[in-house]
Amino acid sequence: MDLTKTVQLEEFFLSTNTIDKIDKLVPRYPDTRSVALPLCHLVQEEKGYISKAAIEWIASRLEIEPIQVYEIVTFYPMLREKPIGKKHIKICRTLSCALNGSQEVCSTFQKELNCGLNQTSDDGEFTVEFVECIASCGTAPVIQIDDKLHQSVTLDVAKKMASELKQNVLQ
Ligand code: FES
Repeated sequence: MDLTKTVQLEEFFLSTNTIDKIDKLVPRYPDTRSVALPLCHLVQEEKGYISKAAIEWIASRLEIEPIQVYEIVTFYPMLREKPIGKKHIKICRTLSCALNGSQEVCSTFQKELNCGLNQTSDDGEFTVEFVECIASCGTAPVIQIDDKLHQSVTLDVAKKMASELKQNVLQ
């Protein structure tokens, strides 16, 4: 018996709400490998990222090898292997936004929040990421903070938003 695996599985818990969703989802797919991606999304939705223990848990739940889940986690850029900050700032870098200053907007957030690109600040408060088109090209440059979209974000607006984020007044 692989004791390491047992310990990892014991350390990983999901809410009953997520477990219910998983239990309903799995039988809808013709084979277990194809449901691995939706399961990764559900786990990330609850935990914020997909840890090694989560990979083991998903593999065990689907009776597939952990490497098959790991391949999915490392292939799709929207899946994360590390925790993110309490506030997740995503800046679109695709054409319309790029032409309208998203690079400068991104740099502003990085500087103001003391955060490297695609990294989390040392205090664990903020993650600043460049992402692909978030489907609001007509109002570029566009950013998303957690689930909320912010359009036509000029440099002044970006500075104000960063300041409000630091003061914890921007939701
Ligand atoms: S190009 Fe930025 S939202 Fe589409």
